[in-house]
Amino acid sequence: MGELAKSNYGDLTVRRLHPAIGGEVRGVDFSKPLSAETVDAVKQAWADHLVLVFPDQPISDEQHVEVTRYFGEPEVFHQDRIKSKYVREIFRVANTDEDGNIMPPSNPVQQQLSSARKWHTDSSYREKPAIGSLLHGVEISRTGGVTCFTNMYEVYDALPDTLKAKVEGRKARHDFEMLSRLTGAPKPTDAERAAMPAVWQPLVRRHPVTGRKSLYISPIYNDAIEGVSDDEAGTLIAELTEFAGQERFVYEHTWSPDDILMWDNRCTMHYVTPHDPTERRVMHRTTIAGDAAVEAA
Ligand code: SIN
Repeated sequence: MGELAKSNYGDLTVRRLHPAIGGEVRGVDFSKPLSAETVDAVKQAWADHLVLVFPDQPISDEQHVEVTRYFGEPEVFHQDRIKSKYVREIFRVANTDEDGNIMPPSNPVQQQLSSARKWHTDSSYREKPAIGSLLHGVEISRTGGVTCFTNMYEVYDALPDTLKAKVEGRKARHDFEMLSRLTGAPKPTDAERAAMPAVWQPLVRRHPVTGRKSLYISPIYNDAIEGVSDDEAGTLIAELTEFAGQERFVYEHTWSPDDILMWDNRCTMHYVTPHDPTERRVMHRTTIAGDAAVEAA
């Protein structure tokens, strides 16, 4: 790949990381309060790049939550076993517990987190899905654990007519319970199930900020599509997922310690590559809660 462009947003400099998606941001320090101008500049750069990488941000979990608040309300995950017992807005994508012990892949938390190794977008099973997520590389892995992002605007624009015809005007179901079927993680309890019923979301959505159309799937949660059999739905989701995963749409992020990545769940999907489970990997995520239902396009 040739040299990619740099742009200025106020005091920030953003270096494009891939022609379709991703920008590395310099000129912001998350350990200090952000000015309104800086927040606006980040928002503009985010709308243009979909995924922002902020290198060298050694912040505490409390600061991480404060930074998130500049962009919306931090979501508190509905299952205790995944969130931090110290800072409840922190969702731990980690293979250690909070006492520092490595958890084996057979641990139910690890089984559930293994779903992150397939394409998805966060909280799509909520009626008002998450706006974005901020992931802090607290302890990064060297044997894998590369996080990949795809640009779902470009995916939608490039869909062949045959696939476009299958998604236009249709809805897919997003069900949190899919995770237990997919990974062998414990089934949600009756109370969790009642609090998180499956939702139907449009397959083509309009972004509330940019107005652009994108394909909206989240394959780890999708178990049905309106108007087709479950087998046909499975085949269509697999076809769309394969199309979305092409190199031309995807940025692969190899982590350095204290990188913070901020992605837009309304127009991207992501997954993480496997790593040696005996190597520690501790990532702390906040999720910007959704404030509106998905707009069909
Ligand atoms: C996630 O899917 O939210 C986490 C991705 C990662 O662990 O890199």
